[in-house]
Amino acid sequence: MFELNLEINHFLDTYWQKKPTVIKQGFIDFIDPILPDEIAGLAMEEEIESRLVYRDEKQQWQAECGPFESFEKLESDGATLLIQAVDHWHEDAQQLVRPFRFLPNWRIDDLMISYSTPKGGVGPHIDNYDVFIIQGMGKRHWRVGEKHPIKKEFAAHGALKHCEPFDAIIDVELEPGDILYIPVGFPHEGYAVEPSMNYSVGFRAPDQNDLISSFADHLIDNNEKPLRYNDINMQMREKTGQIETQELNELHRVMLANCATPEQLIPWFGKMVSEAKHDLDIATPEVKHSEQDILATFEEGAQFTRLGGLRAVYFELSPELLFINAEQFSCEGFTELGHHLCDQDKVGSEVSELLQQDKQALTLFTQLVNLGYWYAT
Ligand code: SIN
Ligand code: CO
Repeated sequence: MFELNLEINHFLDTYWQKKPTVIKQGFIDFIDPILPDEIAGLAMEEEIESRLVYRDEKQQWQAECGPFESFEKLESDGATLLIQAVDHWHEDAQQLVRPFRFLPNWRIDDLMISYSTPKGGVGPHIDNYDVFIIQGMGKRHWRVGEKHPIKKEFAAHGALKHCEPFDAIIDVELEPGDILYIPVGFPHEGYAVEPSMNYSVGFRAPDQNDLISSFADHLIDNNEKPLRYNDINMQMREKTGQIETQELNELHRVMLANCATPEQLIPWFGKMVSEAKHDLDIATPEVKHSEQDILATFEEGAQFTRLGGLRAVYFELSPELLFINAEQFSCEGFTELGHHLCDQDKVGSEVSELLQQDKQALTLFTQLVNLGYWYAT
């Protein structure tokens, strides 16, 4: 179990999304939850996203995508192996996300783990997410620069985006248990001083373009009767080259008709934000559980754990809807239970009482277990 050594309110007021900081010994007596060999094992799997980054003899940046069959590059200095979404695949590593649950679930992106040989790093870059980088075994030297809206970015390699050099506002060597927090948009680079493990807990911060393009995709898929531009009161025109203000107003009305109020965003955003960006390790039960099986399992004292990386959210504005893995479910009449499932990683006897009292709640929970989204532990 990892306990964060951090004054959370002070951190949120002073640093969150505002400026980078080092949380010295954020985890006291830190022990790596995963071994470098296990990292290599994950990088051999087809469904797990992995990358190997290094510089060749001419000091040119190179990047290869997994799955990998061998790891010769990691026998020399200057190489880094990175694995995305380890929280989906490794239960002990997943425990590293839990201490950051003082932030809302929907903002959590994934847990990325890197293993670097001395001098290994991915080069200077800017991330699209807020990130806590935890130092595991070894030491790594980090530099972080000031946020700069026009800092140039370029492709150092097809799979590697870098930014131009920057002056450091943080220049530090991290030791096991130290945490570097970097808000979205601050350039940074880190190079291992000795063989080093780093854990990055990332928090998505979608930008306007991400949101609008996703909303447009949602409309294309779901809006069967789209509103059409209308100029039924057309008058004869002299200035035929001109688009009149009232015409622009009508275009604006048509475009915004499906997103004029925050409530209208709920079906789209709920699905979008609960969709897993990386594969999930779903194991659907071979034989479907009955509702009675579920109650009996609780009675035996079992708990049910939410699948690592599964996204489950609800909206304050629409409390009777749950969005789980890009699907909408109703929890009308049992919102307390529905919300509890989204708020907690594990549920136990507190839920079994509610399930015994509410048949619809039991039906939904059984369905979720049969989908492989919650499993008995
Ligand atoms: C790494 O762990 O090697 C890269 C982390 C980052 O800079 O975001
Ligand atoms: Co980064």
